[in-house]
Amino acid sequence: NVQPLILCGGSGTRMWPLSREQFPKQLLSLAGESSMLQATVQRLKGLPLAGAGLAAPILIGNEEYRFLMAEQLRQIGVRHGGMLLEPCGRNTAPALTLGALLARAGGDDPVLVIMPADHVIQDEAAFRAAVALALPLADAGKLVTFGICPTAPETGYGYIRVGDSLGEGASLVEQFVEKPDQATAQRYLDSGQYLWNGGIFVIKASVWLAKMAQCRPDILAACEAAFAGRQQDMDFVRPDKAAFAACPSESIDYAVMEPLTAAGKNTGEVAVVPLAARWSDVGAWSALWEIGDKDEAGNVFKGDVLAVDTANSLVMSSSRLVATVGLQDVVVVETDDAILVADRNQIQKVKDVVGQLKAAG
Ligand code: GDD
Ligand code: MG
Repeated sequence: NVQPLILCGGSGTRMWPLSREQFPKQLLSLAGESSMLQATVQRLKGLPLAGAGLAAPILIGNEEYRFLMAEQLRQIGVRHGGMLLEPCGRNTAPALTLGALLARAGGDDPVLVIMPADHVIQDEAAFRAAVALALPLADAGKLVTFGICPTAPETGYGYIRVGDSLGEGASLVEQFVEKPDQATAQRYLDSGQYLWNGGIFVIKASVWLAKMAQCRPDILAACEAAFAGRQQDMDFVRPDKAAFAACPSESIDYAVMEPLTAAGKNTGEVAVVPLAARWSDVGAWSALWEIGDKDEAGNVFKGDVLAVDTANSLVMSSSRLVATVGLQDVVVVETDDAILVADRNQIQKVKDVVGQLKAAG
């Protein structure tokens, strides 16, 4: 069986002022009518499964988002397979471990399709084809990653050095390097031998738990204790708060992918399938401009916008008319209580705004 797990726990500070702690970016409708969470749960519809069953997705996110998550699924008429509510964020390795424990609780051992709820994937058919290629590899015990052709020396991504072919475009991962520094990222890009890690994984539940036992027994033990002490109320599954709070915080990438492919220790368990599906980790406003439908002057507008002599800009209004004159390469985001005006080429610094706001209380 195939069990989708949706990671829905981040807060996306670089998408301020639309994303807030109470309303993270995966619940926003940024790139279309539906929210990124809604688009994520609908993305697997029509997946060719060769006889296996596709279970309703399990959502894993913070306790605070439970009603928003439930409401958004209700709006699109999608049934979910339960919600794992974390009392606090411990990053993705514990979140996935809880998900794997829940998926195994009924005695099954499904292949997990682990999807971040905050990505945009425009070519859904290509995405499903890549997942279909990954499923038999995962069923045979591989940890499958999705490789994106890199276009810039991004330091916010994992890099995958492609190894021996497994056929049909899939390969072994020779080395996985999470978030290299700028110089290393540039070297990887220039070499032409690396792909970006897309942050989507296909792994059998028992395989993930075995790898956690091998690489991070401390995290596995904390998650097992939190899961054993869980409370269940309708669809909401709540791990024990104190036990989960005691869990170390770590990502899937650092906890398992890097150690399993470390030089001299790589036993050929991590695989990569290519993903050419117009993928975007909507990490910052500039990404919305990049993937958006542009007018002749290279602008992307949303809402009530009037632009004169404006080029290569992203202008979004949520309630008021926004007018721009004589601007290039800017980002303007209007909301009820805050307005962002920024240079599109320095957009990563929006996180500094959030930092200063937090510091100011
Ligand atoms: N439930 C839950 N709990 N979800 C979480 C948590 C958590 O504590 N922390 C993060 N997430 C969710 C985020 O909302 C996001 O959807 C996903 O897990 C990945 O977390 P990010 O924090 O966005 O990771 P990243 O973007 O820095 O890096 C990952 O994704 C890149 C591609 O977008 C890595 O896998 C990189 O290697 C990869 O290149
Ligand atoms: Mg991300």
